[in-house]
Amino acid sequence: MKITISAIKADIGSIGGHETPSKAVYETVRKYVLENKKDLLLDLFTTYVGDDIALLMTHTRGENNSDIHKLAWDAFVAGTEVAKKQGLYGAGQDLLKDSFSGNVKGMGPGVCEMEFDERPNEPFIFFQADKTDPGAFNLPMYLSFADPMYSPGLFISAKMRQGYEFTIMNVYHTEGDKVIKLNAPEEIYDVAALLRDLETYVVESVHLRATGDIAAKVSTSRLHNIAGTYVGKDDPVALVRLQKLFPDAGEVLSPYALGYYVAGDNRGSHNTPLLPVKTHSIVSYFDGPACVSALGFCVHDGIFTEPVDMFDHPVWERVREKVSDKAIEMRRQGFFGCAMLGMNELEYTEIVDHIKELDARFVVRK
Ligand code: F6R
Ligand code: MG
Ligand code: MG
Repeated sequence: MKITISAIKADIGSIGGHETPSKAVYETVRKYVLENKKDLLLDLFTTYVGDDIALLMTHTRGENNSDIHKLAWDAFVAGTEVAKKQGLYGAGQDLLKDSFSGNVKGMGPGVCEMEFDERPNEPFIFFQADKTDPGAFNLPMYLSFADPMYSPGLFISAKMRQGYEFTIMNVYHTEGDKVIKLNAPEEIYDVAALLRDLETYVVESVHLRATGDIAAKVSTSRLHNIAGTYVGKDDPVALVRLQKLFPDAGEVLSPYALGYYVAGDNRGSHNTPLLPVKTHSIVSYFDGPACVSALGFCVHDGIFTEPVDMFDHPVWERVREKVSDKAIEMRRQGFFGCAMLGMNELEYTEIVDHIKELDARFVVRK
């Protein structure tokens, strides 16, 4: 059966700053979708991490379907009303447009969709990150789909050995999707050269070259670029299919043990190690560290199993301790050097404008 999984997420308000949505807001969004899904959806799963609520939906209408997108948009609008009534911080923050216009892409919410022919066994992981932007998935995508040091399936499996095609987007281009397709393994140096610049070049999708099957997809919106002014971090989601034609769960998860540095954290303006967390975690230390959760599912005829929390295991407790140490260590140098993002990536236009004023006061010594 051909199905589409649509993951659509938004920050529409949270408690205590940017920590977590209120129960009332979360329940309103969930209830809205359940009561209004009519015959649109095969199944729905909802969750939240940090201050972002995510809807995971299955259906047969393909990607970019306006009825599916409208259902999600309207649910977030309903949730925003409750967030406003409760006085939540940042109520409706990710709804950047006044009215829905056919597709939520470019309107604020993050969207990650994949259409495929369901295999008889169809395991996948839904990743949800908070306090960072979509380039945060660049490194694990590279390691799982192009590096046998992390993904031995790349030489063990005959199909995987033929490599994967990376579709990489330049997210600074906002007048349409500007993408390049590069083949691993032949072009991994080019893939690496782009993916190291995680604020500009973002993995949008990965396909198995042997069959053309979609393997992974990432939400690519940069709120910063949509709004042209400060609106908070994008907090991306990603879907990764597992096993047989694709890396197995271990090969997909192990890169997250690195606690590699990404953009985000406090005021969306710092470098922070990415912390693998259990779903429903809040953020706390320095409004971070940037975090990512991983829920494993199987799906059959469009119906999800219950999820398994992939980062709820003793090894990840140890990883969390080590990554927390990295976060605390980086904080010791405060605003200095690589602890903060460069001028281009600072989320606040006020400081950027103020630096321009200071710059105008410089004099060239005679
Ligand atoms: C992401 C997030 C942050 C904030 C940022 C600025 O979920 O919450 O990127 O948007 O810390 O927050 P404010 O708007 O309070 O200055
Ligand atoms: Mg937020
Ligand atoms: Mg968030």
